[in-house]
Amino acid sequence: MTGRCHRRDVLKGALAAPAMLLAPARSGDAGMIAPTGRLYGAAVRADTIAADPALRRRVAADCGWITPEIDFKWNALEYRRGGWWFERADQIAAFARTHDQQLRGHTLLWEQSTPDWARAEIADKRDWRLVERWFDGVLGRYADAASEWDVVNEPIDTEQGHRGLRRTCFQRAFGDGYVARALHAARERAPTARLFVNEYGLEYANPVERDRRTALLKLVERLRHDGAPIDGVGIQAHLDLSKGPLDTIAITAMLREIAGMGLRVSITELDVKEADRSLPLATRDRLIDDEVRRYLDVVLAEPAVRGVVSWGVSDRDSWLQDGIAATGPAALNRGLPLDAALAPKPVYWTLREAVGGGGGRHQV
Ligand code: G3I
Repeated sequence: MTGRCHRRDVLKGALAAPAMLLAPARSGDAGMIAPTGRLYGAAVRADTIAADPALRRRVAADCGWITPEIDFKWNALEYRRGGWWFERADQIAAFARTHDQQLRGHTLLWEQSTPDWARAEIADKRDWRLVERWFDGVLGRYADAASEWDVVNEPIDTEQGHRGLRRTCFQRAFGDGYVARALHAARERAPTARLFVNEYGLEYANPVERDRRTALLKLVERLRHDGAPIDGVGIQAHLDLSKGPLDTIAITAMLREIAGMGLRVSITELDVKEADRSLPLATRDRLIDDEVRRYLDVVLAEPAVRGVVSWGVSDRDSWLQDGIAATGPAALNRGLPLDAALAPKPVYWTLREAVGGGGGRHQV
């Protein structure tokens, strides 16, 4: 089956299920339908798309954007010092080029994806040239391939951090100014890409996430004030049904502040963690879909939000399965658009309607 045929089938499916897609919760709210030009995308891994032609067709048909889930990370590209390994990242870049998709470069500085040798060397030598050398390697090859880069990933920690910043090897070695410094270093090497700071834990009505929103806004204000080259903020949006209600008022206020600073927003890692996987499948899928609808209703009302990336395509490959010993498909968390057999769930159609414009993927 060709990608084109597959896409027609998907459209046929969409037409066959309008009642579910256009649920009453959506009617009467003019802010809910995304203006054209917003992108839908998904995180993908080179090994999983290479191994599965059906998944490949889905990603080709549905995504205007793709984010490499692991293949652009420092510990993927340079696991051993000087042992650069570009094969999988090249495959992702070629896939995006072939299918006329934009790439989100993920991610330049993240403690968790920094190889052990680099962490040790940074702690030992405190030499910024180590970071520059890494940026030279990755941006020297992919600066033009990606339209956006998550330059610093997850810099906020309001519980154990230093003035709201996570105590990482970068913060310890180079101080709080490392975020601005990284943005400048990225700008020198990727002059036309949009540069982002990407963060999680910003959605719910609890004191920790309230403090995290405040700390993120302070960081971004400081970066703007100091003239750091930041173009946007990535909001990861790992939704979680055990965390209570979304704080829709606070989310709106945060997005307005970011937009007011002249920055754009990308929703970069959307998925939903379930609270109770013993419920009937249809109930679980409805709860997930409801949460995503509520979230998209709020974020897509803000014009600065330029697109939505889900953190994977199929439940089969989701990082949320870590720690779940699956005894069958029903045991898996169901927080991505397609189930483990690649069948669309209600949340697939919701995303398609809200960000894919009903006609598939969109280009900015
Ligand atoms: O592929 C190997 C496999 O060969 C090996 O047997 C197995 C043993 O642990 O590891 C596999 O690699 C794992 C890889 O995911 C693929 O499953 C790595 O250990 C594991 O560290 C890696 O985790 C990724 C994680 O980032 C760290 O890079 C997750 O897939 C990925 O979803 C996750 O993504 C992060 C974002 O970058 C930032 N925001 C949070 C998000 C979720 O943690």
